[in-house]
Amino acid sequence: MLQLPLREFNGELILGLGRHDADFTSDLFALMQLVPPLPAFTDAGKAFNKFLQRFAVVGPASIMLTAGTNPAIEFAFILLSHRDPVTLEWLDEPIQDLPEDMMIPADPPPWWHSRKKATQFANGMSRGGDHRGTMILASSLCTDTTAEAAVILDYFIDVVAYLESIEPPQYPYPVDTELAAAGEEVFLCHCAGCHGNYSADGENDYYPNMLIPLELIGTDPVFAAYGAGEFNYLEEWFESSFFGAVTQLGVTEPFVGYVAPPLDSVWASAPYFHNASVPTLDLVLDSGARPTYWKRVDFDSTHYDWGALGWPYEVLDHGQDQAGPLEQRNLIYDTTKPGHSNAGHPFGDALTSEERAAVLEYLKTI
Ligand code: HEC
Repeated sequence: MLQLPLREFNGELILGLGRHDADFTSDLFALMQLVPPLPAFTDAGKAFNKFLQRFAVVGPASIMLTAGTNPAIEFAFILLSHRDPVTLEWLDEPIQDLPEDMMIPADPPPWWHSRKKATQFANGMSRGGDHRGTMILASSLCTDTTAEAAVILDYFIDVVAYLESIEPPQYPYPVDTELAAAGEEVFLCHCAGCHGNYSADGENDYYPNMLIPLELIGTDPVFAAYGAGEFNYLEEWFESSFFGAVTQLGVTEPFVGYVAPPLDSVWASAPYFHNASVPTLDLVLDSGARPTYWKRVDFDSTHYDWGALGWPYEVLDHGQDQAGPLEQRNLIYDTTKPGHSNAGHPFGDALTSEERAAVLEYLKTI
């Protein structure tokens, strides 16, 4: 079930919106490995064959449990384990064994947040003004020398400028301005301290870039804790590498937690939280109502729930272990699986249903 339309929302391509429908649960890797190598006597052939060889290493080790979740973070761990940090030479034998049960489902953040964020990742990794180190590492499947990496680093001045130029989309339907104004009051009181203030033209926005300790936010701990504590290989590798001279990774400092993300056009980027565990904004604000097992009704981007602001879902009475073959199992978001918890962020729970509706209306305007 490989979905081909790219970053579509409501039937349209939205620049900078992460894919909510890509399926990394198996087929892609199996398919890649069926592609025959090209004749190795041309540069293109050599490059393609190298790509296939690398993919054979990272692919099988980064299979997701649920369609719609993304293995980008796991890719990084696996790639690093096959590279010398100083020379960037590729090593067929990994220099670090990764935990067999590694499972870090990710939800790609929208690119229109780039210009606000001091850290690039949900757990606060990639610090400081220059994020090019982590960005080019992510595209380093075939970069085998520091000389090659230096050339790419220069290109990324333009890539970063482009990312920072992307504007959030406007909400496409009429908004109840009175209700939204009431919602703004609630938002300023209950939400802005972590998520910032928003102005109509964006000119007077204030975004505090706050990392919230795991104990307080209470969302799934896996990604926050990875790289911290015993398994600190990622940080050690990165800080001693070519990329660490450009960008500071900072997994463990100042503490383990998640960044409260900017909320510009957040209505467009369902599902929610760093692990895509919550299908609608309505449920972000009501932690007790979140389903333990759920499944998207379909992957039609025009089939959106404009009331709850998110993807229509079905609540199931069983998880992946009780499901049938892969093509049924991988549609189930099972929040009891490691990395997939939908707990935490209880900050909307104390709101009345009127206040919650008002906040949702306000979120359409920012
Ligand atoms: C104490 C800080 C804090 C407060 C208060 C807070 N949030 Fe959050 N919020 C966070 C953090 C941290 C995350 C990221 C959690 C994660 O991904 O694991 C988050 C995530 C979210 C998301 C999901 C964003 C996405 O793209 O996935 C939304 C929406 C949101 N918050 C809205 C609100 C609203 C509305 C309020 C007020 C009712 C609020 N938050 C109050 C810290 C806070």
